[in-house]
Amino acid sequence: MAKTQFFFVCSSCGSKQLKWLGRCPDCGEWDSLSEQQQSDLGADLHRPHVPLEDRGPVKLSDLDGDDQAQADRFACGFSELDRVLGGGLVSGATVLLGGSPGIGKSTLLLHLAGVLGKAGFEVMYVTSEESAGQIRMRAERLGICHKNIWIDAQTNLEIILNHIRDKKPTVVMIDSVQMVYKPSLPAAPGSVSQLRQCGTELVWLAKSTGIAVILVGHVTKQGMIAGPKILEHIVDVVLYFEGDRHQTYRLIRAVKNRYGSTNELGIFEMSDTGLQEISDPLGLFLHPEFPQRPGRVILAASEGSRILLVEVQALTATSVPGMVRRRGTGVDAKRLLMILAVLERQCGMKLASRDVFVNVVGGVKVTEPAADLAIALAIAGTHTGKKLPADMAVFGELGLLGEIRPVSLAAQRTAEVARHRFKAVITSGADSLEAAANDKIGIHKCYHLQEAIMRLE
Ligand code: TYD
Ligand code: MG
Repeated sequence: MAKTQFFFVCSSCGSKQLKWLGRCPDCGEWDSLSEQQQSDLGADLHRPHVPLEDRGPVKLSDLDGDDQAQADRFACGFSELDRVLGGGLVSGATVLLGGSPGIGKSTLLLHLAGVLGKAGFEVMYVTSEESAGQIRMRAERLGICHKNIWIDAQTNLEIILNHIRDKKPTVVMIDSVQMVYKPSLPAAPGSVSQLRQCGTELVWLAKSTGIAVILVGHVTKQGMIAGPKILEHIVDVVLYFEGDRHQTYRLIRAVKNRYGSTNELGIFEMSDTGLQEISDPLGLFLHPEFPQRPGRVILAASEGSRILLVEVQALTATSVPGMVRRRGTGVDAKRLLMILAVLERQCGMKLASRDVFVNVVGGVKVTEPAADLAIALAIAGTHTGKKLPADMAVFGELGLLGEIRPVSLAAQRTAEVARHRFKAVITSGADSLEAAANDKIGIHKCYHLQEAIMRLE
């Protein structure tokens, strides 16, 4: 009799180990290995049938229009989503949409189904978590009722694939991939082997039929898409839908995109009637009704090709001896520590026994180095009780010696700050901004953080 073989499989990256370990040697995740039988791993499963003809290698120069047609791009009609996708959905593409529970993934997809249906595309929305009745209720609330939208409440992958082959829609949405299962695999839905198999079969379906497939994926507490990383590797586009659940704004960004850039950000607002697009978000996160105070600095941040003005706030307070706290929300924690060290060493600020809190208002995350100067000035302002003029914005990267370094899109940032009727901007002395300089805005160029701090009054 054949001996049953056992393996330990990592729930984070899907790697296989012969013995149990506390930490996965491949991805470094703790306590993620669980025991599985060889048969559970699906080694004996058939590869999905691929009805693609084998043409052998073809010279790049010989590929013609027919090959391009396979990658037809069509705009979804949702300009914020189209921007993040790099100009629209591509036929045959697989898109993984991740986001925490209740953030609005199902709402976004239903909206998308609505606009695609209206534009004449057939859409199949496979709901594996909610009943068809629940989807109908949501659709009524969003004002969507279109004959081009099929709703399929199903969790069995084989039945789903048959339905897709039968109806041949242009776009398929699977909400969510974690709840779909293949009956021939003994593992539970959402397990590594189920996700790998279901994900692969759906990708093959997309590639072989030209149907665009959008998969909804759950995220873990750390904010990563749950399940094996393989799911992120095999799809063409990985999108994250994020935002503060207590706020109404929702941001969508690509972390992987085989058809475009990953810099772009799409912005929506959640309202009673679903998600509304925000096409000019320049001053969306500003609250000019609050008077200017020390510790508040306006940053001209870049999100892809767009500029966003955000408010960076800082607070320093006496700390309990031996328990100094440094907390940053919406900023890079490591850069915050570096900025504190620069303020201490290069500008003589005594912050060693102070708790420091930094927050970007509105649930926005700004991780680009161009935020350094705003963070440093917010901390210096609250520490010294001085403030910047209310109509002044800043941007610039800090070096370890306290120098302010130039950043990308300096001219666009300055132009957008002027468009929002700010009067002045502090930027790096090394920026070549003469071209953008105009009468509308004063440009204060500083070479060192110390010079920028002198602007606090
Ligand atoms: P949902 O799309 O179900 O989230 P997910 O699929 O990511 O889990 O969104 C649910 C939240 O959105 C819920 O808390 C209510 C809110 N919502 C609105 O505020 N307005 C609406 O029109 C809809 C449909 C939902
Ligand atoms: Mg949902």
